[in-house]
Amino acid sequence: MGSTLVTGIAELVTNDPTTGDGSPLGLITKAAVVVAEGRIAWVGSAAAAPATDHRTDLGGQSVVPGFVDSHAHLMFAGDRSAEFAARMAGQPYTGGGIATTVAATRAATDQELLAHLRLLVAEMRAQGTTTVEVKSGYGLDVEHEVRSLRLAGQVTEETTFLGAHVVPADFADRRDEYLALVTGEMLTACAPYARWADVFCEPASAHSFDGAESRAVLTAAAAAGLELRVHGNQLSAGPGVQLAVELGAASVDHCTYLTDPDVDALAAGGKALALDAAGTATGRGTVATLLPGVEFSTRSPYPDARRLLGAGAVLALATDCNPGSCFTSSMPLMIALAVREMRMTPAEALWAATAGGALALRRTDIGRLTVGDRADLTVIDAPSYLHLAYRPGVPLAHALDL
Ligand code: NIG
Ligand code: FE
Repeated sequence: MGSTLVTGIAELVTNDPTTGDGSPLGLITKAAVVVAEGRIAWVGSAAAAPATDHRTDLGGQSVVPGFVDSHAHLMFAGDRSAEFAARMAGQPYTGGGIATTVAATRAATDQELLAHLRLLVAEMRAQGTTTVEVKSGYGLDVEHEVRSLRLAGQVTEETTFLGAHVVPADFADRRDEYLALVTGEMLTACAPYARWADVFCEPASAHSFDGAESRAVLTAAAAAGLELRVHGNQLSAGPGVQLAVELGAASVDHCTYLTDPDVDALAAGGKALALDAAGTATGRGTVATLLPGVEFSTRSPYPDARRLLGAGAVLALATDCNPGSCFTSSMPLMIALAVREMRMTPAEALWAATAGGALALRRTDIGRLTVGDRADLTVIDAPSYLHLAYRPGVPLAHALDL
């Protein structure tokens, strides 16, 4: 293999403020990167690049850290495009359609599920995503939740047990029994295949889990050795955000409907990350992950990113790619929506889609390009990363295969 010089980079984003222009993106113009053994071996000005075994010239394109999509539900079968059409005609999104996907997922073979999963991961990589988290949550019984996680583990280390996605229809009158299953036998069977546990937390609803139920799910998962993440405050202001911060979840995702105390909690969660000068977390805080594709695809109000940034919360952006509330795999679209619809600056949005996602997954080897990090380079076919938001819908980004 040997070492490879990637040169001809018009603009390089390292996300290391100690490099380049000293901004959070650590921008270096006319840059080069040396990759060896799948890691970054050197970063700097092309004029100062060392000798290497191989050389790739990008001819004036830009390079950013590979997008980190820290929230996705790729483990499913079936189609809910008719639900989308009904929504565009005025139906609200409630999460009730999840049952349709559960039936289709249970009916699919392992081969079908894995082929579909690989297709979606390839679709993401072709758009610049180099790390993706994959949740279960469309199995909702012991056999199918374990299967989902076992298959997900074939494409990512970031596997999440979401047995508490919804209360399945056959348990509608026996919620307590489903909760006992998710916190007992199902958790025990799934824990060996999952790094994370998640819960769909909303104030009392037929589909999701209320504060007390969510607390039970999360504390049982933590006791089983899983790290925590939460779907919180998606459909209404609820207990999710405060529960996530209290229990030390790595991330609380959606954050669409927030009270002032929720914003305070997210600010405290961001502070607890204790980011150092190079942007590395030295503490265990909670990231607020915004999923603007959901608001786009459900025609809902966007989260107030400026309120969160103003308070000191640390933000990530992810797709939430799933068959119901948002079926897109595109991180560049999330960046464009964050800028256009949530008034994040292009720099804030790119940082949230890379470094923010890495913090939401408690990873220190991805989301930036410094010596020793994984060589996850995403090429933008443009003179600057600004084009990600400036040219929405144009396929400018792809992960670099070396
Ligand atoms: O993040 N809120 C819960 N889960 C997904 C939607 C899943 C579905 O509708 O199939 C979400 O929006
Ligand atoms: Fe989700």
